[in-house]
Amino acid sequence: MSNTVVITSGKGGVGKTTITACLGFALAGRGVNTLLIDGDVGLNNLDVALGMENRAAYDMADVMAGKCRVSQAILQVPGYPLYIMPSAHAVYSEQIKTGDFRSLIARLGGSFDYILIDCPAGIEGGFHRAVSASEYAIVVTTPHISAVRDADKVVTLLSGYNLKGISLIVNRVRGDLLVRGETLEPKEISRLLRYPLLGIVPDDDEISAGCVPGGGESSALCAIDMAAGNMLTGDGRLYDPTLRYRGILGAIRSRLKRNA
Ligand SMILES: Nc1ncnc2c1ncn2[C@@H]1O[C@H](COP(=O)(O)OP(=O)(O)O)[C@@H](O)[C@H]1O
Ligand SMILES: [Mg+2]
Repeated sequence: MSNTVVITSGKGGVGKTTITACLGFALAGRGVNTLLIDGDVGLNNLDVALGMENRAAYDMADVMAGKCRVSQAILQVPGYPLYIMPSAHAVYSEQIKTGDFRSLIARLGGSFDYILIDCPAGIEGGFHRAVSASEYAIVVTTPHISAVRDADKVVTLLSGYNLKGISLIVNRVRGDLLVRGETLEPKEISRLLRYPLLGIVPDDDEISAGCVPGGGESSALCAIDMAAGNMLTGDGRLYDPTLRYRGILGAIRSRLKRNA
């Protein structure tokens, strides 16, 4: 059986799809057979983030309608043991029933080490469908008060499901603001939300809209790789976004960033 993990959030736009795609690359880069599922039915953000849009002849809805075999709706990201099942493009989200989605995930479970489900924004039907098919949840938030407040609502909802574990990724953390005490500390967010931190991901210009680099040394990818290590080994290593902003060079970087 694979570990099935839903990547969710309260507020939209905090980085769920980006984190799902990057975690997928990070796990696959460690040799872990990983399948990404786009739970955001009707949109195709995940295939766009992976640079795999328009490559699929079939999608999740076709599998459910019996129009193709499961293997025909799964694409491999070249060079990685990383796979994606694109979301259903031609149907409305409500047409994908929770029970059918759960059965599909259960069927896929035997073939992968990890299944990551990119959850749709909000806490409507699509949220329930994705969470009820999962064993673990990762809640993504940014350090902004409005995002943390919405994350709080989501963790409260999640605690009503029979999940084996809930953890947090604080995304878009700015080291310069942390050093100056002008943003919430990730550890404080974890304390407020009452769940452990799986990752701290810095704000990184290299994570440009809709594009996930497949390699390289971006600070966000390095941080997400640490989070993948935590998933696999529970070693608890967290990225420190303040490192770049300490010491004399750090003070100059911080000043430049403030004036940018
Ligand atoms: N760590 C980061 N640093 C900089 N930009 C980021 C980071 N994470 C996400 N983004 C950007 O934020 C926007 C929203 O991210 P996305 O993953 O689509 O959010 P969601 O799936 O939660 O709606 C995208 O433009 C993405 O490139
Ligand atoms: Mg998204």
